[in-house]
Amino acid sequence: AARPSPVHLLTLADLTAGQIHELLVSSAQHKRDAKHTDKPPPQPLRGKTMAIMFSKRSTRTRVATESALAYLGAHGMFLGSQDIQLGVNESLLDTSIVVSSMVDGIMARVYGHEDVETLARHSTVPIINALSAKYHPTQLLADLLTLHESATNSLTPTSDYSAHKTHPSKTLPGLRVAWVGDGNNILNEMLVSMPKLGVHLAAACPNGYTPDPDVVQIAKEDGKRTGAEVLLTTVPEEAVKSADVIVTDTWVSMGQETEKQRRLKDFAGYQITMDLARRGGANSGWKFMHCLPRKPEEVDDEVFYSDRSLVFPEAENRKWTILAAIDALLVRGRF
Ligand code: CP
Ligand code: NVA
Repeated sequence: AARPSPVHLLTLADLTAGQIHELLVSSAQHKRDAKHTDKPPPQPLRGKTMAIMFSKRSTRTRVATESALAYLGAHGMFLGSQDIQLGVNESLLDTSIVVSSMVDGIMARVYGHEDVETLARHSTVPIINALSAKYHPTQLLADLLTLHESATNSLTPTSDYSAHKTHPSKTLPGLRVAWVGDGNNILNEMLVSMPKLGVHLAAACPNGYTPDPDVVQIAKEDGKRTGAEVLLTTVPEEAVKSADVIVTDTWVSMGQETEKQRRLKDFAGYQITMDLARRGGANSGWKFMHCLPRKPEEVDDEVFYSDRSLVFPEAENRKWTILAAIDALLVRGRF
């Protein structure tokens, strides 16, 4: 019989709210089992291999993927752009045909989003987008899990872990998230996932750095269905008004290094500080998130290392959410 075509994770725009909820529930269950019970790691992927094909650097996504694969019993094979014939001596098409013939899944970090789409079109095994210039789906899964954990009080060291006991459809809708920064892959991924889950999203980006119009369109349509408000502005104070969470990222994404000087100038006034949150009228209990790696220009140390900052649990959650995504696609073959 013909092999069923594989299911890929290229962006959360392709998933329903229910499918995203399922991934979050599964992430919380895995996290609880691994950290708060004596259960041995399940090994459903024993003897399987996942290629981790990365054209750009990575700390979190790579460590999350390799450690999640070990937990599931699979081998993670890291293939950096210096190591394999990726887009240099061999086309991406030929590479994907060859690699997918020998492994059971591919985690791919690429420059243009069309590269990961090409991989998915020709691969016989599931592809997970580990970051492209347009989207970063596994980051948003971690961010949503972190918001859910924060809402269920699962992040304080003294509290019991209870995130797996509450459904995210009870905790996420109505949250107010503010973005102050570049209209980049992280904001794009927030726009295609948060309004769909009923999360209000206000984003301040300087002129010339606004998110992709097709992505804004998706956000507005999702928001109409769920009641989530979507606001785009160039004024940081406007975006943080009534925010429960303020989020940012680097002003210079990988591949934009030559634009650094111009970008630092164009983002003047966009640094996240306690004063910005006060001036804009964020909620008194506002939290801070950042996908990392972080530079001080976009958020000062006072906020970054404060009690408001969720950045380190957010980074750890890359592991539990990538684990859930691999479990869905490689073990069950569906979301
Ligand atoms: N947040 C994130 O994707 O980090 P890395 O680039 O270190 O993987
Ligand atoms: N926007 C950043 C995210 C890094 C995880 C980049 O693309 O470099």
